[in-house]
Amino acid sequence: MERFGDLENLKVEQNDIATVITISRPKFLNALNRDVLEELDNVLDTLFERFPGIPVIITGEGSRAFVAGADIGEMAEMSPKEAREFSRFGQGVFSKLEGFPTVTIAAVNGYALGGGNELALGCDIRVASRNAKFGQPEVGLGIIPGFGGTQRLPRIAGRSNALDLILTGRVIDAEEAFRIGLVHKVVDEGKALDEALSYAGALRRNSPFALTQAKEAIARAGSSDYDDGMNAESDLFSQCFDWPDQREGMKAFMDKRRPVFKQTPR
Ligand code: COA
Repeated sequence: MERFGDLENLKVEQNDIATVITISRPKFLNALNRDVLEELDNVLDTLFERFPGIPVIITGEGSRAFVAGADIGEMAEMSPKEAREFSRFGQGVFSKLEGFPTVTIAAVNGYALGGGNELALGCDIRVASRNAKFGQPEVGLGIIPGFGGTQRLPRIAGRSNALDLILTGRVIDAEEAFRIGLVHKVVDEGKALDEALSYAGALRRNSPFALTQAKEAIARAGSSDYDDGMNAESDLFSQCFDWPDQREGMKAFMDKRRPVFKQTPR
C-alpha cells in the first residue's frame, strides 16, 4: 500500500476491523533482519500517527513460520558493538508495538522462535494455530534473547517457565504454550488470522479511550512498584471521567441500548 512506503519485507492490509501486518521473507522463514525491523518500525510510526484506534495484527507469510528468529546470517559476524545496537533497535521496535494505543495481536501461524517469539511477546494477545511452535533457542547459538525476551517472557509466562525455555532452548507446541500462559487461544491450522480478526472485532464494542487507559495501567504493573501502580490506576481511572465515553457508556447502560463511543482513543 502506497501510504506505508515501499515495503519489501512486509505486507500491510487494512480492513474494517484491523491493520494486518504480514512479515514476508518466506525463503528465510520470515527471519528478522535489520531491513524487516526498519520497515516494521516505520509502519508502526505511521499507524500510531494516523490510525491509533485501529487494532494491529501481526502474522507471518505462509503456513510454516510466523517468524523463525532474528536473521542468523546477518548476526554471524557482528561485533559486540553492532550486536548491542541491533539488540537496542529490536527492543525499541517491539516496545513501540507494546505501547501501541490499542490492542495488538500476534496471529502465530507456525514457528515463533527467538526474535519471533519476542515479537509475539511484544503484542498484547497471542493466538496460535495448532501447528505453531514456540521457543527461545538462542543459547544453542551461543547467545541469549536480545529483543526483550528475558524481560517479557518471565512477566508473561512466569519466571520459572522463562528460565526453563531460555536455559534449555527447547521448542514447545501450541498446547504447551497455552498451558503456560504464553498463548491465549489455540485454533485449527490456518485459522490464527481469522481468530485474531474476530478478537479485534469483539473489542470494537468497547471504548477506544478506555482500552488505551487500561493498557497503560496494566503496563504500569510491570514497570513500577505496587503503590505507584495503584496511584497510576487512579489517575488513569479518573481521566476516563474527563472523556465523553464514560457518560455515554453509563447512560447507554441505563437506557438499555448499545453505547456509541468516540472512535479516537485520545
Ligand atoms: N535466520 C536466517 N535464516 C533462517 C532462519 C533464521 N533465524 N531460520 C530459518 N532460516 C532459513 C534457513 O537457513 C533455510 O534457508 P536455506 O533454504 O537457504 O537453507 C530456510 O530458512 C528454511 O529453513 P530450514 O532450516 O531448511 O527449515 P526446517 O523446516 O528444516 O527447520 C527451523 C525450521 C525453524 C526449525 C530451522 O530453520 C531453525 O532452527 N531456524 C533457526 C531458529 C533459531 O535459532 N532462531 C533464533 C535465532 S536468534
